[in-house]
Amino acid sequence: RKKVTINTLRALHQKDEPITMITAHDFPSAHVADHAGMDIILVGDSLAMVALGMEDTSEVVLEEMILHCRSVSRATKAAFTIGDLPMGSYEIAPEQALESAVKVIKEGRVQAVKLEGGVEYATTIEKITRAGIPVLGHVGLTPQRQHSIGGFRVQGKTTLGALKVLEDALAVQAAGCFAVVIEAVPAEVAALVTKKLKIPTIGIGAGNGCSGQVLVQADMSGNFPPGRFLPKFVKQYGNVWAESMKAIEAYKSEVKSRQYPAPAHTYPMPPEEYTEFER
Ligand code: KIV
Ligand code: NA
Repeated sequence: RKKVTINTLRALHQKDEPITMITAHDFPSAHVADHAGMDIILVGDSLAMVALGMEDTSEVVLEEMILHCRSVSRATKAAFTIGDLPMGSYEIAPEQALESAVKVIKEGRVQAVKLEGGVEYATTIEKITRAGIPVLGHVGLTPQRQHSIGGFRVQGKTTLGALKVLEDALAVQAAGCFAVVIEAVPAEVAALVTKKLKIPTIGIGAGNGCSGQVLVQADMSGNFPPGRFLPKFVKQYGNVWAESMKAIEAYKSEVKSRQYPAPAHTYPMPPEEYTEFER
């Protein structure tokens, strides 16, 4: 497979072919996503929860994101790879944001960064894109700012709210974003925003009128214990948890019953050597 570049993504958009994107947080999760042919792999800060067991994304720091970006980038031979700028690494000033973005690129070995925010972050995005670092925007529901929007709520359900999503998307486009994630907005709104933009939109909980889709890998592959809450927009395509449970439980039972290791998993010693050794 040929390396996916920003030009590949533009070509897909021009052909009106949906762009496929998924998260990965380490070498194996990136390896499988790259092999499956994903166009984009995102090292999302959702790794705070799915890989580090944190309560929400506000806890993860830049150095941790960089470590995960580096392990993901070692596995991505073809997919365009993007790292999230975590909360606290870009809000203080555009200079801080550029410094963080440069670190993610240089040390995380990814090709682009993503940051949450619209109109308010246009100057910040401009600062990074002017330095030659591609930026993926993120508007609609912005999980890093859950406390200021009253939790994980659908955005743009009212005319005024929808206008805000559109303004934000237009602002990040004008600031130089090569694409924008639209999270948790009504399908009608995301479709209209997509029509009004020149850059591709990547939807998550935003209907099928976007230029592409993204899901958190742990969610869509079912790599979590039963009974966990999943947002309405997640479709669970597999059950990795059940597969792992089955394997580990079988291993446990075979060790307890001494079925494992069988002769096939055992290194033999020539009998005459053993006789010598036994003496
Ligand atoms: O952190 C993340 O995984 C994300 C995607 C869901 C867009 O930001
Ligand atoms: Na994120």
